[in-house]
Amino acid sequence: MTKSLQEILSQDEFSKPDLERMLSADEQERQLIFARAEEIKKNFVGNKVYYRGLIEFSNLCGKDCYYCGIRAGNKSTHRYEVTEAEILEAAKYAYDNKYGSLVIQAGERSDKSFVNRIASLVSQIKEMSNGELGITLSLGEQTEETYKLWYNMGAHRYLLRIEVSNPELYHKYHPGDKKHDYFQRMESLHLLRKIGYQVGTGVMIGLPFQTISDLADDLLFFRNFDIDMVGMGPYIEHENTPMYEFKDQLISKTDRFYLSLKMVAILRIMMKDINIAATTAMQAIDPMGREKAIKVGANIIMPNLTPTKYREDYLLYEDKPCIDENADDCKKCLEARIHMAGGQVGYGEWGDSKHFDKRKGNS
Ligand code: 5AD
Ligand code: FES
Repeated sequence: MTKSLQEILSQDEFSKPDLERMLSADEQERQLIFARAEEIKKNFVGNKVYYRGLIEFSNLCGKDCYYCGIRAGNKSTHRYEVTEAEILEAAKYAYDNKYGSLVIQAGERSDKSFVNRIASLVSQIKEMSNGELGITLSLGEQTEETYKLWYNMGAHRYLLRIEVSNPELYHKYHPGDKKHDYFQRMESLHLLRKIGYQVGTGVMIGLPFQTISDLADDLLFFRNFDIDMVGMGPYIEHENTPMYEFKDQLISKTDRFYLSLKMVAILRIMMKDINIAATTAMQAIDPMGREKAIKVGANIIMPNLTPTKYREDYLLYEDKPCIDENADDCKKCLEARIHMAGGQVGYGEWGDSKHFDKRKGNS
């Protein structure tokens, strides 16, 4: 006999069929999942939401992911790199406004000058903030040596989305060369963990060819890897990418949004003490998308601190929000929104993953 959703939600562990059942929940049923996730969030991570000021350092990229608006093959994007002075200014803003941490994100490059620039920036930001600003990097696959260098300079978290945990699907969405190898990416996640970073990963939701079974596997992947942080959100098509060809096969944007919200809520129930981000892609579909994600389990938000003049060039997908707002506008707007979602901003705190602390035996 098939289990009811209530029965499934009363369990401590979910099987793959349980996950598929939850991911398929309709509009009424999903409220039960959201309510359970809300309760778990309250008990295990509380209502604090931590800021990670996001600096989109550069859209230069050596990769060619078929879904991504800043892929090397997109010749219609104007390429930029934020200057050192601008980054330090954004970092100062984050520090002065008591954002606990920064995220430095960019397209993937591994040339020596890039590696050294990042190392120098990390150490300057650490110095400027008396070691108080936490630094998360999101700069793709790198060598062990590079990861170690950045860690030694003071970065302590790293985000590297696996994008899809099924290797066959991964190869559908990426060119079949050595630069875009699923197993290499997995190896990077292991290296990051070995070095001592708090490791975050994530997936896109609602990609063409992706099934509910694949998404259930993504959730199991996070659990089996025992990940510390997750950032995931809906796939949003971009006209100047090869994957745009499949746009007619996609589920509606609203369905992608609610599927993403269910992924967040179910993951919160499964991994009670990890950090989960309310991602910008959720807001791209629903103006209240991030707030809704916070309500059902997310506890991290990444306000954009990229100097406004560069933002329209960091378009990973269509309808990316907050292209025109400056950092101050974003700050006021966000705080009000977080309060509306029943949250409180954890100003001046790192808000590290409790899961990481526990794994390390620090708590
Ligand atoms: N839609 C949604 N997310 C995307 N990303 C890249 N392209 C898209 C897209 N078209 C995400 C990837 C990447 C992160 C920086 O942005 O998951 O890891
Ligand atoms: Fe490089 Fe997307 S293909 S960041």
